[in-house]
Amino acid sequence: MKEKLVIKAPAKVNLTLDVKGKRADGYHELETVMQQISLVDIIHLSVNDTGEIASKSNSSLIPDHEENLAYQAAALMKSKYGLQAGLDIFIEKNIPVGAGLAGGSTDAAAVLQGINELFRLDIKLPKLMELGAEIGSDVPFCLLGGAALAKGRGEILTSLKAGLRLEMVLVKPDFQISTAEVYRQFSLDKVERAPDNVAFLAAWDNEDSIQMTRQMVNVLESVSINKYPEIEKIKQELISMGALTAIMSGSGPTVFGAFRTREDAQRAYDKIKRRYAESYIVSSYSRGD
Ligand code: C5P
Repeated sequence: MKEKLVIKAPAKVNLTLDVKGKRADGYHELETVMQQISLVDIIHLSVNDTGEIASKSNSSLIPDHEENLAYQAAALMKSKYGLQAGLDIFIEKNIPVGAGLAGGSTDAAAVLQGINELFRLDIKLPKLMELGAEIGSDVPFCLLGGAALAKGRGEILTSLKAGLRLEMVLVKPDFQISTAEVYRQFSLDKVERAPDNVAFLAAWDNEDSIQMTRQMVNVLESVSINKYPEIEKIKQELISMGALTAIMSGSGPTVFGAFRTREDAQRAYDKIKRRYAESYIVSSYSRGD
């Protein structure tokens, strides 16, 4: 049996995000296109003989132990599969925290995959995704990877064929947003424009970046920009630096601009990183990258 693994855990952005309504269970019914990106955490997993789970990180911003989604993923696998061994988890954090980029969810997904491999549990992807949904709405997508249309809470997924390589600049302003709080304040009446996901997916199939960018809309901006106008300012700055469009990812506050070429993205990145320490130049990440 292997004793150690190192796993890449990519972040995601939401290329579109629509909320269809509130459900009886308190969650919101979503329709969103999610895309993994080349900004990754590195997860080090190793088996120990204490029987306990220990999670640590090089970042002081993420919680240790029970509150950490990676810890929760390990605890879930231990209890479901009766694993006696303990696990040491070390998270090399590169993805900003509380940012709308699924940083915690992707770490949890990597731990689920890693434990499956380390203990040769042979759990198939659909079952692993079902377990992931117990930890968080974005975990199933992080397990599936690539690009996908997500419905339900975010766990009903349809993979998209590999599309155009997207070149993006991400900017995370210097504050975090609670996803639960954004959904609590969300009201359909306040939405000015929702994405047309059918049109987006048609444009995706045709690799038509102009039509795609027209539909890159996130209805959660109606809550987050109202509270934090800086998000709108960053959108406008990215557009003035040549982005085809710029939108917030997930519940925010990270904003990303989509650029025609890597060179265009690089020019904008070189400028904006002087003002925002947490700026990143990334591209779309496909399964197997
Ligand atoms: O599933 P997860 O724990 O990541 O979600 C965090 C919070 O975001 C939930 O507690 C819920 O308040 C809100 N949420 C929602 N509808 C979704 C996903 C999340 O209302 N589809």
